Amino acid sequence: MVSAEKPDRPLEPDPEELRNLLDDCVSFAVEHIRTLPEQPSFDVTGAKQLALTFNEPVPESGEPLETVLERLRPAFAKSFTTAGPGYLAYIPGGGIPAAAAADLLACATNRFVGVSAAAPALVQIEATVIQWLTSLMGCPPGWGGILTSGGSIANLTAIVAARTARLPEDFLSGVIYLTQETHSSLIKSARIAGFSDRNFHWIPVDSRLRMLPDALEEAIRQDRARGLSPFLIVANAGTTNTGAVDPIPDLVETGQRHGLWVHADAAYGGVFRITREGEALLPGLPRCDSITLDPHKGLFLPYGTGSLLIREQEWLAKALRVETHYLPDPSAAEGIPNYTEITAELSREFRGLRVWLPFKLYGVRAFRQQLEEKLELARWAYRELKDDPHFEMLDEPQLSIVAFTARGMGRDRDSLGAEILRRVNERRRVFLSGTRIDGRYVLRICVLSFRSHRERVEEAVVALKEEARSLAGE
Ligand SMILES: Cc1ncc(COP(=O)(O)O)c(C=O)c1O
Repeated sequence: MVSAEKPDRPLEPDPEELRNLLDDCVSFAVEHIRTLPEQPSFDVTGAKQLALTFNEPVPESGEPLETVLERLRPAFAKSFTTAGPGYLAYIPGGGIPAAAAADLLACATNRFVGVSAAAPALVQIEATVIQWLTSLMGCPPGWGGILTSGGSIANLTAIVAARTARLPEDFLSGVIYLTQETHSSLIKSARIAGFSDRNFHWIPVDSRLRMLPDALEEAIRQDRARGLSPFLIVANAGTTNTGAVDPIPDLVETGQRHGLWVHADAAYGGVFRITREGEALLPGLPRCDSITLDPHKGLFLPYGTGSLLIREQEWLAKALRVETHYLPDPSAAEGIPNYTEITAELSREFRGLRVWLPFKLYGVRAFRQQLEEKLELARWAYRELKDDPHFEMLDEPQLSIVAFTARGMGRDRDSLGAEILRRVNERRRVFLSGTRIDGRYVLRICVLSFRSHRERVEEAVVALKEEARSLAGE
């Protein structure tokens, strides 16, 4: 709303107006977070009609914040409660409030971090975050990387780096090795990078849904013999469906033997490397050429925070650097990364602060403790469901995902599984999601939010057992 006293500066609140604006938003956020445990795990009843009310023309004049916030309240309510403790669907994260505070500072100061000379110390904060992430993954000094909007763009950037490093300019004979469990973003990324379906070679998996190294070796040999150019192996370090971890050391050895780039998609799973069992859970990760790691998953940050870590950052520069004459000279900030030269972006948000502030406030120890709890909760849920006659487990959790099917008991097991999941979700205390693997309907519990603890996972398990029994007429 334009203040009557300063019609010539309608967009600049005075300090008191600014404080009121921020205070009201802070109160809104605090109240939202305070009530998360009681909020339904999802509520989209009437959400489509509500959505239509937001399809409106651009307003010519403003309204008071109070009115606008009231308008927003139901829009937040009518959604999946992704930040709540009961969100055990897809890949959760939660969104720790300290990151929201960092975003407030980043947006309010609005410094430019796309070029190093414009804010050297702030750019260094982001570079330091990358160093922290590489060291947490066990990578040796010298690794670099970038923060991205998420795992999809990190995977895209990795494909472009690998293509530049391993293929000639005419790259259409390149072959990418992946499995049925590889995340869809890799397929999209490959398409954006100029490849098509004929550039994929799908490698079979074992009974735990992990790539078979012998089949990979054979595929590379055959493709070479056919005159193709094998260049990239995508290793899953925690698949989205079940958290399966490919045999990365074997894949790295194959990659090195044949001169291929090995990219680990550790968007979900990589963070478990910081737990005490980390190396055993994710062996070989630091031996890859690049790693996608999503802080907006296992570091519990808000959506919009991914990263690509890379053994030789220079490959990003070789792929992306363009000479310009209108940007500040980076030599003034020598030694600090000039992000416009190694990312697809020029203007960009200050994602570094969103990662840096929580680490500074809580230390790695807090994250490690949370992640160890998630591993333990998934194992606990697995043990509970394994002994229940209504369920058949796909596998022991390799990380923090429990995947299982319903036992048919005379009924079609896929539709029974979907019905159990629907009924569990309808209780609105937890929210689970299903998937299809080898044609079968699979239920899954993904424990990853920093707000999900034993009592809520227990509620999920109890609800699953009760609904399965009730559908079996017991
Ligand atoms: C294994 C894996 N890779 C990549 C992605 C894509 O990440 P984003 O949604 O951040 O783009 C996901 C998302 O769930 C994932 O689980």
